[in-house]
Amino acid sequence: MKNLDERLLDAGADTLAVRAGQHRSSEGEQCEPIFTTSSYVFSSAEEAAARFSGEADGNVYSRYTNPTVRAFEERMAALEGAEAAVATASGMAAILSTCMALLQAGDHILCSNAVFGSTIVLLTKHLSRFGVAVDFVSSEEVEDWQAAIRPNTRMLFLETPSNPLCRITDVAQLATLAKQHNALLVVDNSFCTPALQRPLNLGADIVLYAATKYIDGQGRCLGGVVLGSKDIVAELNGFIRSAGPSLAPFNAWVFLKGLETLRLRMIAHSQNAAQIATWLAAHDRVAQVYYCGLEGHPNHAIAKRQQRDFGGVLSFEIRCADTAQYRNCAWRFIDQVKLMSHTANLGDAKTTIVHPASTTHGRLSEEQRQAAGIQQNLVRIAVGLEDPGDIINDIERGFAAL
Ligand SMILES: Cc1ncc(COP(=O)(O)O)c(C=O)c1O
Repeated sequence: MKNLDERLLDAGADTLAVRAGQHRSSEGEQCEPIFTTSSYVFSSAEEAAARFSGEADGNVYSRYTNPTVRAFEERMAALEGAEAAVATASGMAAILSTCMALLQAGDHILCSNAVFGSTIVLLTKHLSRFGVAVDFVSSEEVEDWQAAIRPNTRMLFLETPSNPLCRITDVAQLATLAKQHNALLVVDNSFCTPALQRPLNLGADIVLYAATKYIDGQGRCLGGVVLGSKDIVAELNGFIRSAGPSLAPFNAWVFLKGLETLRLRMIAHSQNAAQIATWLAAHDRVAQVYYCGLEGHPNHAIAKRQQRDFGGVLSFEIRCADTAQYRNCAWRFIDQVKLMSHTANLGDAKTTIVHPASTTHGRLSEEQRQAAGIQQNLVRIAVGLEDPGDIINDIERGFAAL
């Protein structure tokens, strides 16, 4: 674990969430400071040369290192039980940096098709131009992943639970498969955060986050972070320093504060989502609910085994007699709700609602969308921290429009 303060060596996760990464200065500040500086002053030409060459530790430029960003990275590494962490400017920058730092032309990625829409676009439209091939697996079964592996497969990439359908993959099984084939298993853990699931403990090589979501927790900042071994993070650091998708210190500070309440928030998000999912499952306007906390969810048993709780995101299909009217039903419903925020973000204290087929997954072809199981009557709700009864009343308001 990175630079962990001696007092924290045996500390529990709640203590680490509040204290890890803090290096109090001689000013005695209680709260971590924000270092808003682009560069750092050297005490001599010799020191400048030594820092630039890497012979001496110390800050050079905030694209490389920044004390506030480092505090966030150390706290994340402590919570995740990772050797090292590197922060990035957004969740997509975390995914891009992971691919750019660890893959080369001729390599192949095997990716779950149940991943965030921009991840699919990044891999298919952009990375493919640099000679990295990608195939998508539309199943959580390890046999289907095994069948799709090629001799040049270097990376297996997945989200669990997935966005927006809460599909669950058995991380330990895929980690074994990845190791057998000398590939890296990368898990986007944005939905669970280390408070609910620690993929490195299950055998993954890399875990990454859109910190934009629950790590922030209040919809303020974009950011990301990638965690893994020291060697892997060193490769990423090299890429980020040269290419520039570094995290801004203010955003790092917001995430540091977010981590302090993360576990409590994740419990509350999960409780509220479970209550609303159970209510939706019994509603006659609902054709199908996707929430891995429901016993009827096909992967409920795996979720129960590898997660501490089931998280705050659920989706559901609105019952609508005519398939040609699916989109219309979902849009009428969304346009009628008043309390929930109609916005694409998730992981916020304020509940958010969105129509995935025309927004977050709107850039996918119809074929890709069908393969991902995202129907036009699907609505995603990222349940926040309001009184769940008020969200239920708002959903009823939406149904009344149908
Ligand atoms: C699971 C997941 N991964 C990655 C991202 C991308 O994060 P960002 O918007 O910070 O680039 C998102 C954004 O919604 C997401 O939901």
